[in-house]
Amino acid sequence: MLKTILVPVDGSEKAFKALKYASNLCKDCGSKLVVSTVVLPYAFTEAAKAYDSDIAELITTQLPPKSKDKAGDVIEDFSKERILALAKKKLAKDKDLKIEYRRIISDDPAKAIVDQADAIKADTIVMGNRGMGQFVEIFLGSVGNKVISFAKCPVVIVK
Ligand SMILES: Nc1ncnc2c1ncn2[C@@H]1O[C@H](COP(=O)(O)OP(=O)(O)OP(=O)(O)O)[C@@H](O)[C@H]1O
Ligand SMILES: [Mg+2]
Repeated sequence: MLKTILVPVDGSEKAFKALKYASNLCKDCGSKLVVSTVVLPYAFTEAAKAYDSDIAELITTQLPPKSKDKAGDVIEDFSKERILALAKKKLAKDKDLKIEYRRIISDDPAKAIVDQADAIKADTIVMGNRGMGQFVEIFLGSVGNKVISFAKCPVVIVK
């Protein structure tokens, strides 16, 4: 019944927790696992820096903490599939799983995730309740909220 499970990952702890949950689900159900990450189509922080350093700071704080001081480099890493490389590493032991990795370039992650779920005929989307965002007091992030609203298939939120 669950032939294909889509897990969108943004590099956050919660997304990788969702990935772990989904990989176990795939083992139990014999499903194919599709891991995808949505990256912006341009060097966002560099552009923002030129425009307004406060905005650049705000965006930089949403990126992985280790690279905070080198915003441009982080975007480079982002676009070079750093997140998918991490996901691959985390799934390295799951040799029997059928796994596909996809990188989508879009400035609307939620729409890209919903469209991809349609395109690959995903039976379920598994994602974290939060991602790289900073406002921890809110249970569900904006990408998760929009995916739940517009996805045609069931969505599992891992918290
Ligand atoms: N760019 C992305 N590519 C792939 N998956 C993503 C992306 N952004 C978010 N996700 C998925 O959505 C989940 C929830 O992230 P979301 O972005 O909604 O929360 P947040 O970052 O904490 O909040 P916000 O983005 O609204 O500040 C993540 O755990 C991940 O599974
Ligand atoms: Mg987010």
